[in-house]
Amino acid sequence: MRLEGKVALITGASRGQGAEEAKLFSKEGAAVIATDVLDEDGKKLEAEINRDGGNCLFIHLDVSDPQQWENVISETLKVHKRIDVLVNNAGIAVWGTNDDTTEEIWDNVMDINAKGVFLGTKYVLPEMKKHGSGSIINISSVSGLRGQAGIQPVYNASKGAVRLFTKSTAVQYGQYGIRANSIHPGAIDTQMIAHTHNDREDVFKDLVPLQRIAQPIEVAYGALYLASDESSYVTGSELVIDGGLTAK
Ligand SMILES: NC(=O)c1ccc[n+]([C@@H]2O[C@H](COP(=O)([O-])OP(=O)(O)OC[C@H]3O[C@@H](n4cnc5c(N)ncnc54)[C@H](O)[C@@H]3O)[C@@H](O)[C@H]2O)c1
Repeated sequence: MRLEGKVALITGASRGQGAEEAKLFSKEGAAVIATDVLDEDGKKLEAEINRDGGNCLFIHLDVSDPQQWENVISETLKVHKRIDVLVNNAGIAVWGTNDDTTEEIWDNVMDINAKGVFLGTKYVLPEMKKHGSGSIINISSVSGLRGQAGIQPVYNASKGAVRLFTKSTAVQYGQYGIRANSIHPGAIDTQMIAHTHNDREDVFKDLVPLQRIAQPIEVAYGALYLASDESSYVTGSELVIDGGLTAK
């Protein structure tokens, strides 16, 4: 029970990595607030976790909307009185090159991937400050570490923003006992990239030293470490979970 007594709020939790984190955190004793724009999948996840003996509440949240953040924070505090862990996981990817990026796409990606992380952080900080502790985990990407082909550069821009926003949060709020770290996943087997590779094993053999795509649980274990008190001296750091992709 590595998260016993902690309250963890996870965005983009209805499926993929967020759902895996919600299930793992719950198994490790956390009360989980799972949020997403996908209500049906979120409710199913809530039911599954609670059926397995966990404590999960699903609340609708579009991370780019400050009013919805206010609602989620107030609903969470009504039920649990505190927030110990925030995982800013929600995100979208857009495939192509900069030629494909319209102003509308730029704004949408930045609103969800970057502004969403800013808003979540802004709304949990006062609560974490009250308790003199907290762990904020921001899901960036290997796309926040380097450029790449195939994805619109606005995705890299948004994930790079998450990386440095995390470090500034760590610098400014360490004095309140609040930690902030980013995770940089490589290729993870979720719906986000499902449609991009027909013959995935071949693709990943060339790209990834471990020669395979990762399962979402392999990122969730990294998030678990950063959420738990085992990482009590870790802040402003980047946890790269990419099978060696960026080591090349
Ligand atoms: N899959 C990968 O290979 C990979 C690699 C690196 C980083 N990431 C990042 O990991 C995170 C999780 O992605 P995933 O792989 O689980 O993909 P996914 O598409 O399965 O999950 C993303 C979740 O975010 C939710 N979401 C999208 N827009 C939202 C919004 N406006 N408000 C709230 N929720 C919203 C979706 O509904 C979905 O549940 C994302 O930030 C993604 O950029 C993914």
